[in-house]
Amino acid sequence: MLWLWFWDAYFARPESWAVEIADAGDADELAHIHAGAFARGWSIDEMEQLLRDRSVVACALRREGRRQVLGFALSRVAEDEAEVLSIAVAAERRGAGGGKALLGRHLGRLAGQGVRRVVLEVDEDNEPALALYRAFGFEQVGRRKAYYARADGKRGSARVMALEMA
Ligand SMILES: CC(C)(COP(=O)(O)OP(=O)(O)OC[C@H]1O[C@@H](n2cnc3c(N)ncnc32)[C@H](O)[C@@H]1OP(=O)(O)O)[C@@H](O)C(=O)NCCC(=O)NCCS
Repeated sequence: MLWLWFWDAYFARPESWAVEIADAGDADELAHIHAGAFARGWSIDEMEQLLRDRSVVACALRREGRRQVLGFALSRVAEDEAEVLSIAVAAERRGAGGGKALLGRHLGRLAGQGVRRVVLEVDEDNEPALALYRAFGFEQVGRRKAYYARADGKRGSARVMALEMA
């Protein structure tokens, strides 16, 4: 799997981060991280439903050799296209390479399942996320005005980004 090797070698610092498939048993930890990252969190039940959905690929980020989940990435796959539904790293663990390790391994999993195009939406003011996506070659392909409800009651616009992995 060329993608997996590439991102591991150059970005993922594989000696310290482990990225594995998440399952329904991880729902509470993933919901907790999601609630800490987004204005509208997903309940444990909602998270569990996604983790049981066979069209959803879910990855959990951990420190090598530790059980605690520190981040997650969730994508829905339809034929050779995937949409990143959500990605987050626990607030106190950000800025240490976990996001890159997580997204790199997640994209590798998707590529291994035959995905050739990955799309996502991101708040256009979310600089850390935009930098992360750009680092992997995502490019803007559209914009959705006033798409997000923010905690302060205002609305934020979304960039639609895509990555061609073929
Ligand atoms: C986006 C997110 C997953 C990145 O996770 P992370 O563990 O901090 O990411 P990394 O440490 O691997 O950093 C990845 C890149 O993001 C950028 N970045 C990280 N923190 C940043 C910050 N505070 N400001 C600007 N860019 C930042 C950098 O380009 C960094 O690469 P570099 O270290 O090689 O320069 C994390 O910030 C997060 O969970 N945010 C809340 C949830 C969210 O917004 N998800 C995206 C929804 S579309």
